[in-house]
Amino acid sequence: MAVFQIVKIGDNILREKAKPVSKINSNIHKLLDNMKDTMEHANGVGLAAPQIGVSKRVIIVDIGEGLIELINPEIIKSSGKSTDVEGCLSVPDVNGEVTRADKVVVVGLNRKGEKVEIKAEGLLARALQHEIDHLDGILFIDNAKNVQNNE
Ligand code: CO
Repeated sequence: MAVFQIVKIGDNILREKAKPVSKINSNIHKLLDNMKDTMEHANGVGLAAPQIGVSKRVIIVDIGEGLIELINPEIIKSSGKSTDVEGCLSVPDVNGEVTRADKVVVVGLNRKGEKVEIKAEGLLARALQHEIDHLDGILFIDNAKNVQNNE
């Protein structure tokens, strides 16, 4: 597997609506593995496929409680509100406060093509929402307050 260069803000692929995965095959498995290597190398807590140049609806999240891989993820329920500081590997050296749902239920497929449902709150809920936003061309800075550039 391989560590990829992370696509940075300004690249159009980050603003595209990523395409649903219609078939989970070895290419998707390779994509997931490359995303994991790239995220770990960058010390990130999540990554979306467009961030390594692939406009497909695939995300991974690992906030230190184990790796979650999701294909065609969808938020089916959200509740509460929480505001916290976020950053993004595609927007280096920038932080800002983003208000998001505090709890979400996300459904999607795992790498075996099995349907999974994840009930998340707090940081995990935030990370999932951040990564799913990437699939719709949304970056955290679009909705951030008190944006700081620490360059
Ligand atoms: Co991001």
